[in-house]
Amino acid sequence: MDFNKTRYTLMNRRRRIYEGKAKVLFEGPEPGTLIQHFKDDATAFNAKKHEIVDGKGVLNNRISEFVFQNLNDIGVPTHFIRRLNMREQLIREVEIIPLEVVVRNVAAGSLSKRLGIEEGTQLPRSIIEFYYKSDKLDDPMVSEEHITAFGWATPQEIDDIMALAIRVNDFLSGLFLGVGIRLVDFKMETGRLWEGDMMRIVLADEISPDSCRLWDIKSNDKMDKDRFRRDLGGLIEAYSEVARRLGILSENESTPMGGPRLVQ
Ligand SMILES: Nc1ncnc2c1ncn2[C@@H]1O[C@H](COP(=O)(O)OP(=O)(O)O)[C@@H](O)[C@H]1O
Ligand SMILES: [Mg+2]
Repeated sequence: MDFNKTRYTLMNRRRRIYEGKAKVLFEGPEPGTLIQHFKDDATAFNAKKHEIVDGKGVLNNRISEFVFQNLNDIGVPTHFIRRLNMREQLIREVEIIPLEVVVRNVAAGSLSKRLGIEEGTQLPRSIIEFYYKSDKLDDPMVSEEHITAFGWATPQEIDDIMALAIRVNDFLSGLFLGVGIRLVDFKMETGRLWEGDMMRIVLADEISPDSCRLWDIKSNDKMDKDRFRRDLGGLIEAYSEVARRLGILSENESTPMGGPRLVQ
C-alpha cells in the first residue's frame, strides 16, 4: 500500500471548517471535536503585515499544547484534548465568545501608546481588557456595558471569563518566571462548552509567543511576536528559546539552520 497516497487522500477528505490568519480548523473525528492546525503564517496589524516563517506553526503547536495540558492538569477548563502531530491538535468545539481578552502585568504596546505609560512599567495590578473580535473593525476595545448591551456575553459569563483570565495569568506568570521570562501581557479567547444541559466557559484558541509578550528577565530581550511586528528579526530563534526553556526542545539543540528539532 502506498502510505503517502493514503495519507494524502485522508487529509484531503477532511472537512475544512474555518481558515484564519494563523490556523485552520478541520472537522474532528467525533462530533463536538475539531482539529486545530497551526500554519507558518505570521500576521500583524490585522494582517496588513504578513509573512511565512518556516517552523513557527510547529513551535506554537508544541508550546500551546504544553500550556493547555498543564492548565487541564491543574483544573483550569480548556478546549484542549491532545496533540495529534507536529502541527495539529484535537480540541473540543466551543461556541467562541467574540471577545479577545487581554491580561496585562507590565505596560507595553497599545496601553503604553494610549495612556502614555512607558513600556516596561510594572502595573499597580493585573489589568483585564476586552476587545470585540472583528477583523473588519480592527478589534475595537469594548467595555462590559457594550458586551452585555449587545449580548456578546452575560454579566455572569463576564465574571467567569475574568476569573478564568486571572487563573491563567497566575499560572502563566509563574511558569514563565521559573524559566527566566517575564509575562508582560497575553491575549486569550474563551468559549461556551455544552455538556448536556450544563454550560461552562473554557479557555480556547492558543497560548503561544504569538499571543503573549515575553521578555527575558535579565536582558529584557523580546521573545514573542513583537520581533515580527517591529522587524527585529530572529523570531524562530526566540520561539525556539521559549520552547527550550520550557523543556519542549532538548537542551543542546539550537535551531537556526535545520529548523526546529523537537523532543518527543
Ligand atoms: N475550540 C474552538 N472551537 C471553535 N472555534 C475555535 C476554537 N478555538 C479557537 N477557535 C477559533 O478558531 C480560529 C483560529 O484561527 P486563527 O487563525 O487564530 O483565526 P483568526 O484569524 O480569526 O484569529 C479563531 O477564529 C478562533 O476563535
Ligand atoms: Mg487568531
